[in-house]
Amino acid sequence: MSFDLDAVRAQFPALAIKDDGVRRIYLDNPAGTQVPRTVADAMSACLLSANANLGGYFRTSQAAGEIVSSARDAMADLLNAPSSDEIVFGQNMTTITMHISRSIGRLLRPGDEIILSRMDHDANVWPWAMLARDLDLKVTWLPFNIDTFEFDLEVLDNLITERTRLLCVGGASNLTGTLNDVTTICAKARAAGALTYIDGVQSVPHVATDVQAIGCDFLVCSPYKFFGPHQGVLWGRRELLEKLEPYKVRPAASAIPECFETGTQSHEGFAGIKAAVDYLAWIGESMAGATSGRPALRAAMETLFAYEKSLAAQLIEGLLDIDGVTVQGITSPDAFDRRVPTVAITHDRTEPTHIAESLARENIFVWKGHNYAIEAAKALNIYETGGAVRIGPVHYNSAQEIDETLAALRRILGQ
Ligand SMILES: Cc1ncc(COP(=O)(O)O)c(C=O)c1O
Repeated sequence: MSFDLDAVRAQFPALAIKDDGVRRIYLDNPAGTQVPRTVADAMSACLLSANANLGGYFRTSQAAGEIVSSARDAMADLLNAPSSDEIVFGQNMTTITMHISRSIGRLLRPGDEIILSRMDHDANVWPWAMLARDLDLKVTWLPFNIDTFEFDLEVLDNLITERTRLLCVGGASNLTGTLNDVTTICAKARAAGALTYIDGVQSVPHVATDVQAIGCDFLVCSPYKFFGPHQGVLWGRRELLEKLEPYKVRPAASAIPECFETGTQSHEGFAGIKAAVDYLAWIGESMAGATSGRPALRAAMETLFAYEKSLAAQLIEGLLDIDGVTVQGITSPDAFDRRVPTVAITHDRTEPTHIAESLARENIFVWKGHNYAIEAAKALNIYETGGAVRIGPVHYNSAQEIDETLAALRRILGQ
């Protein structure tokens, strides 16, 4: 039993689409992945047969309720949450973070310190920076080493003080692809009595995630980055969720997790989330010989990461061979366990916009710019020069697609 790329690709209708006879190569995955047909079908079925608000006595309402609870169970399995009551849904990671940061702020006092990272996407930076402004908190910045693209954890030791109350950090960078040692980072914060808020948006799609093993207090992710619909999910430690004051209207539920889910939710989105998690479990069962539920999900993520590492190795080796290209991230094969396959590049004579536009003309989809990782782009000195070109394979990409992309890049860069 092993990873079966053809079986995987057959699940994704978008991968077969051609434009004027030209195949598409999706390498824009860090911004959002394609979905298996089962995800679209589940969303469609929800809209067509379970379209009602929650809590009614009638069929559609009951069916919608079952969809919501099955999505919570699925996400609890994916993140290894102790209970599905700790799974909060929302529109996307940014909106969830803006919202819950207000509640977390009620635990903080003027002069308290929070640690933010220079590697993170702005969605795990600015909600907290605004909170700090509103509450008169002190922000301390955790830099990353621009030679290794990783945090130096001794630096973190020096930043943590007895006034540190909160540390916000990403599981993986959406720009450099660095996979952070969040378990060690959370242990350091916990030892100082600080809460931890992990942005798992770029790590959950690539590696098995276990919130209990990480030892964090909150972890957020976005199912549209792992083959699901445009939604956000937060896991929070039960005693904290129960302690926080939810920002909600009076008639809304007051029990967790619903008390943090403002207004009417996208039930069709939840149906899609459940189907996306089921898709991952299918990989674990059919390609890694695991039984259903959490074991299948963990096996799936390990199988996918092993395959993605081979794509990353091929891509990085090819990129390093192109004159003038700098990979803005880890390149050493023996450190590939510490990166996801998201690869950012710059070229010494060509702007990222030109490269991304030229690749688009060949129907190869990539993003360019700072990709909202403003602090990281500034630290790498590429903020003012248009950022980087971000090439982001996932498990449905093939070695041939990587070869074609490298060939296209060589042509575009005149080699
Ligand atoms: C690392 C990271 N965090 C947060 C976000 C924001 O996610 P959302 O679009 O769900 O708000 C992104 C989006 O690209 C991201 O890559």
